Amino acid sequence: MRATFDATGDVVVVTGGGAGIGAALASAVAQAGGTAVVLDVAPGPARDGVDAVEVDVADRDAVLAAVGDVVERHGAVTGLVAGAAVQPRTAVADMDPEEWHRVRAVNLDGVVWACQAVLPSMIARRDGSIVLFSSGLAHMGRAEASAYAATKGAMVPFAKSLAAEVLDHRVRVNVLFPGVVDTDQFRRANPGSEREHWLRSTGIGTPDDVVGPLLYLLSGAATMTGSTLSRDRAFPKE
Ligand SMILES: NC(=O)c1ccc[n+]([C@@H]2O[C@H](COP(=O)([O-])OP(=O)(O)OC[C@H]3O[C@@H](n4cnc5c(N)ncnc54)[C@H](O)[C@@H]3O)[C@@H](O)[C@H]2O)c1
Repeated sequence: MRATFDATGDVVVVTGGGAGIGAALASAVAQAGGTAVVLDVAPGPARDGVDAVEVDVADRDAVLAAVGDVVERHGAVTGLVAGAAVQPRTAVADMDPEEWHRVRAVNLDGVVWACQAVLPSMIARRDGSIVLFSSGLAHMGRAEASAYAATKGAMVPFAKSLAAEVLDHRVRVNVLFPGVVDTDQFRRANPGSEREHWLRSTGIGTPDDVVGPLLYLLSGAATMTGSTLSRDRAFPKE
């Protein structure tokens, strides 16, 4: 069976699509014939078929305005992949309130504002797919990753609650655990021998490895909502 998706007519907002997994997804949506719109503090280089807007997802007014512009330029939003996140490594004992609030503002509040921004389009269409990212660290925890792990632990209950709210509008809300993926965020959070640890325990995937699960969750083939999909282990690189 061929692993191909047709995104013709789709308008997919990708927060954090300037790099890593979101960037790979945005390019894949464009290649599948859809329109990808990246909302990112660092939108990255221009790519064919990808519209990019500089936005801080923690800024609710800016997110609502940016998505309003997207609808004017491209029409109703059909999909949201909310990937923008930060992962500083700080011990709880050393955490200052600004850092704690910033991680929450980006990783949790930013997801809420992005969902608020796209829901009117999806509810009006009676169709739409929202995909959030959790992390294995939500289950395992990790030294010096408490803020990140706590925000990622919030994704499943948030998604399940929102899924119940918008069920009658036929909007789907699901969570992907993408596995360990070689991105800027992963490299910053896992210097030196920590990379070896992940290579041995789960393997390390590439951003492109996560595109299939994301396109699937965005597509009408994924008839579930309030659900999780977990990519637990990567193939070793050949
Ligand atoms: N890489 C992994 O191993 C891994 C594992 C589990 C979960 N995840 C999750 O997958 C998602 C994508 O992660 P990634 O590894 O591709 O990260 P990445 O760091 O490569 O990309 C994240 C993007 O988010 C953007 N961003 C950061 N703060 C922002 C803000 N305030 N507003 C808008 N954009 C902002 C960055 O500029 C960057 O382009 C994240 O939600 C992450 O938590 C990743």
